[in-house]
Amino acid sequence: MDKTVAIHDKKFKKFISSQKIQKAIGKIAERINKDFKNDKPVFLSVLNGSFLFTADLLKKIKIECEVSFTKISSYAGTQSTGKVNTLIGINENLKGRTVIILEDIVDSGNTLEKIISELEKHNPKEIKIATLFFKPHAYKKKIKLDYVGMDMPNDFLVGYGLDYDGLGRNLSDIYILKS
Ligand code: IMP
Ligand code: MG
Repeated sequence: MDKTVAIHDKKFKKFISSQKIQKAIGKIAERINKDFKNDKPVFLSVLNGSFLFTADLLKKIKIECEVSFTKISSYAGTQSTGKVNTLIGINENLKGRTVIILEDIVDSGNTLEKIISELEKHNPKEIKIATLFFKPHAYKKKIKLDYVGMDMPNDFLVGYGLDYDGLGRNLSDIYILKS
């Protein structure tokens, strides 16, 4: 029988095993190790969702690199123009550096677009994107995703960093919402 979990009011069934996730991460690491042999990239992990992906990927990165963590915060600005999105926690000097954004999942691409436009203010040499999961049918942007672990259907997922209202991030497999 398929493994199911209950989170808040919903039921989810096991969809992707942790072994498959680790294999996909291994493939991303292999490509990054090759592509940045002669560089010293800064991995920029976007919290909260990317914490497990970041930890497992970085253990497989063999080139010289740095890792940093950021969070996108939306807050009401002092001006009447409304919401401002900004990246918090970037203490590094990213000027002239290769920055590899680490995302858990790219859905519509809105979050990614905001992160990139904020990151560009730090004048990096180049920005690359590595996302563990990607929902191609939900994606609305033109931004090229350089490293994608796995394509996903346009359904709600939990586990391996992804949450449903704060819960489920600690699951080592990916679960999909039961219809
Ligand atoms: P986007 O801005 O629409 O691309 O959404 C990106 C963010 O939405 C991700 O970083 C996740 O935090 C969240 N997200 C998107 N799809 C899922 C999902 O299936 N489960 C949990 N969170 C998701
Ligand atoms: Mg996220």
